[in-house]
Parts: sequence; structure tokens; C-alpha cells
Amino acid sequence: MVGLQEGMCPGLDGGLLRSLLAADVKTVEDLVSSDLEEVAQKCSVSYKALYAIRRVLLAQHTAFPVSGADLYDELLSSTAIISTGNPSLDKLLDSGLYTGEVTELSGGPGSGKSQVCFGVAVHVSHQLKQRVIYIDTTGGLTASRLLEMLQSETSDRDEQMEALQRIHVFRLFDAYSLRDRLSTLRSGGLLQASGGGSVKAVIVDSVSAVISPLLGGKQNEGMSLMIQAALALKTMAKDFGVAVLVTNHVTRGGRGEVQPGLGASWSHIPRSRILLERTDRAPSGCSSTLRSATLIKSSRQPCLIKEELDLQWWSRSERRSSGKRKRDEADS
Ligand SMILES: Nc1ncnc2c1ncn2[C@@H]1O[C@H](COP(=O)(O)OP(=O)(O)OP(=O)(O)O)[C@@H](O)[C@H]1O
Ligand SMILES: [Mg+2]
Repeated sequence: MVGLQEGMCPGLDGGLLRSLLAADVKTVEDLVSSDLEEVAQKCSVSYKALYAIRRVLLAQHTAFPVSGADLYDELLSSTAIISTGNPSLDKLLDSGLYTGEVTELSGGPGSGKSQVCFGVAVHVSHQLKQRVIYIDTTGGLTASRLLEMLQSETSDRDEQMEALQRIHVFRLFDAYSLRDRLSTLRSGGLLQASGGGSVKAVIVDSVSAVISPLLGGKQNEGMSLMIQAALALKTMAKDFGVAVLVTNHVTRGGRGEVQPGLGASWSHIPRSRILLERTDRAPSGCSSTLRSATLIKSSRQPCLIKEELDLQWWSRSERRSSGKRKRDEADS
């Protein structure tokens, strides 16, 4: 509730404020919900003047209703879908990563979370020519791995270097640094970090690696850091129109089922969640790069749909020739 204050809108001077307070009209809510004729009489002020004040206060302090059609138009004009570069993953995500949203990849060690993040970063920077912010909290990102993936996209050295330059990497290894980095990016640092170019994807691999060691203690500072990081990611996604991709570890639920880590509070942050697991065709110890990807949360697709995902997809050199063939066909 906002208290009435002298000068908060034209016509609300000290004298009128005192009269209003004497008539027990103390807040904006009191004034807009009162019988104006009665208040005008009590305060010896013109009804017209009070009516004008009420209009201004309503405009300043209330939310105007928006129609569903307006909301849908806004969605169409502000949302972009960013292909991950992998058809199976795009299918699960209903075409790709949506700007304005947080998407999560969860899975156990070696399930392929980082490989997918590298692939998405390379695809967005090379194919889509957009900038990517990559926050690496595990030390898993190497320039040579990115270059290796880029080499399967193009043999042109300049193109490879340009694509690498569009990926801005931050390495940080504790929750405090993650929180600070995200809040700097959210308050304008995103534009600065990208050298003024447009960033379309922010990747954090992994959120849980730095947050989960701090969860569950007596002081539970981890929970507060997690909520701060989560809010920064959500508002950054919305305010800057970027797609946010994060990774999470997995834990076992009460019935022994595998589920994403970080608990219930975090579960509301990603709009879509995908669980990566080794497939039966890739038993533990085997070096197969096939994974099963299950959609476990989505507002667009039925949950629990599964796709087979090949982690090597982004590194296959035959994609280069098939991509070139498609471009040639389109040109002719
Ligand atoms: N340089 C590489 N080239 C090709 N495949 C690789 C390479 N590095 C890792 N892999 C493959 O990718 C798989 C997934 O590794 P990745 O690091 O993505 O898992 P992760 O889910 O991020 O694990 P963690 O939770 O430990 O970070 C590995 O098991 C391996 O098969
Ligand atoms: Mg990893």
C-alpha cells in the first residue's frame, strides 16, 4: 500500500494532504476506492480536483489489463526460436531454444551435458552468426574442442576464427562469482561483454556444480545464492531476449528414480527440462556417443517424449558437405 505524499501528483499539496489525512484517507488505495463526493465535502475541495488526482494516481499505481490477443502479439514479436543445431534436440524442444526462457539439461557425469553446450555454442556462433556468453564453472570448456567442432562446420580458417570470437567465455568456480557475474550481465554487462553485438544465447555449464555444495548446511546460504542466480538468469532472458541454457546434475528421488538436482525451488526456473542418459545401446564403460534425451518438463510438448541423441552430431564432418550441398541446391 502506497501512502499519500505531498507532491506525488499535481494538485496534491500540503493543505489538501492534511485534509485528506484528517478525513482518514491515508493511502492511494483509500483515495481511489473512496466516495469522491463525500471526500470532497469533508475536505472542502472541488470534486473535479479530486477526480483529476484520482485519475493520475490510478495511472501511476495500477496495472492496466492486457488482452490475450495483445499478449500473443507481443510474444510473436519478441520471441525467437534458436535451433540447437541438432535435429533430435530441436524436436524435443519444439524447434529449439526459446529466447526469454531458461532451458535445462540434466544428467549424470558423462551424460553429455557439456558436449551439447559446446555444440549449441558453436552452432549459434557459426551458423546463426550470433554472439554467445558461455559461463564455464567446471573447467570443461577448451578452445581446442570448440575449434574441433567448428572444423566440422567449415574448413575456412577465417570463418572458424570469427565464430570463436563470437563466443565469450567466463570461467568461474564458486557460487559467489556466478551470482556476481550474472548480476553484472543483467545490469547491462551483457551488451558490454559482447562488444555491443547482439547476444542470443547464454550458457551456464554447470549451475549445480557451484551451487549444490552450498545447499543443505545450517545457514543455507546456498539457497539464497541459488535464488539470486535463478532470478538473474530469468530476468536476463526476458529483458535482453536471450535463450538461456543451463546444466544440472541428477539425484535419486524417494522411489529411486533419477531426477534433476537443486530441488523444488529451482525446478520452477527452467521452462523446459531435458534429462540425458546413456542408452541401453551404450552400456557403462562403452564409448558410444548415443544418449537418450527425455523431455521432463515443457509447456509446449507432451512430457516424457524421448529422442535418441548423438553427441557426435556437432562434430561430424559429413554435416559440412551435406550443409554445403543444401546451400548449393538453394543457390541453383
Ligand atoms: N573431445 C571429445 N571428443 C569427442 N567426444 C568427447 C570428447 N570429450 C568427451 N567426449 C564424449 O562426450 C561424453 C560426454 O562428456 P561430457 O563432458 O559432455 O559429459 P557431462 O555430462 O558434461 O559430464 P560432467 O557431469 O562430468 O560434466 C563423454 O563420455 C565422451 O564420450
Ligand atoms: Mg560437463
